[in-house]
Amino acid sequence: MFDPERKAESLAMDRVRRSLAEAERVVVLTGAGVSVESGVPTFRGEEGLWRSHRPEQLATPAAFARDPRLVWEWYAWRRERVGGCRPNAAHRALARWALSRPGVLIVTQNVDGLHGDAAIEAAGDRAPETAAWPIELHGSLFRVRCTGCGERRPHVAPIDTGSRASLPRCPDCGALLRPDVVWFGEPLEDRTIGRALAAARGCDACLVVGTSAIVHPAASVAVEAAHGGAVLVEVNPDPTPLSPLAGVSLRATAATAVPRLLGGPNEAGPA
Ligand code: OAD
Repeated sequence: MFDPERKAESLAMDRVRRSLAEAERVVVLTGAGVSVESGVPTFRGEEGLWRSHRPEQLATPAAFARDPRLVWEWYAWRRERVGGCRPNAAHRALARWALSRPGVLIVTQNVDGLHGDAAIEAAGDRAPETAAWPIELHGSLFRVRCTGCGERRPHVAPIDTGSRASLPRCPDCGALLRPDVVWFGEPLEDRTIGRALAAARGCDACLVVGTSAIVHPAASVAVEAAHGGAVLVEVNPDPTPLSPLAGVSLRATAATAVPRLLGGPNEAGPA
């Protein structure tokens, strides 16, 4: 039987697919929602991390200065939780898409490393820093930064949070290492946000997946793209402040909608 709602949805989907396929330059902005179907919690909403934890006690420079062990415990817990998660169909479709055509830049607010994992999977034998490698605006759970000399390095080994003395220290200068993530009250790295905003200003389409779009300057990436005339496509089960700017808002989950939009095989979800 003819279902007008389904028909309208399928026409909208076709239109979006075409806009994305025809765009020369596309910026993809993702947030915590893209990783939900991998098992990573979001920050806001009913099950969100900020419901049960106070950001100012755990994710600020002052919190780390006051009690580095408490802050490391929280990050060690998150590293452990995320460490067991795999990219889902949305991460994979985005990585394959970015590799299969020129002009795609993935910009993420997530610190879970799942876009990078998907890029490595998709690139196979090629170097991982391919076109599918994301700009990580808020850093990474799996990198550390020295509080003394500022050196950054990858760090995937378990963190011993047993005592202050057991916390990780810089092999160069001996100062405490901290997670290489952006905390509340800290600026984003100029080069990183600058690259994302420049790409947004010059893109023809911007695909926004799974972000509440209330944290700036990250959300400004999509706003700049829309103000520059790019087609804005949003994938989010709920409306956001970006919805009024979006040409199309798909009220669907990332792992369902993104593979359909990008034309890749529709995988069931996380492996
Ligand atoms: P939020 O937790 O604020 O928002 C997650 C969004 O994902 C919401 O809009 C949900 O509706 C949507 N969502 C939920 N499930 C989804 C699914 N399966 N598919 C698609 N979307 C889904 O997370 P962010 O917007 O990423 O910053 O938060 C932005 C920043 O605030 C984070 O990077 C973090 C946080 O404080 C720092 O830590 C600096």
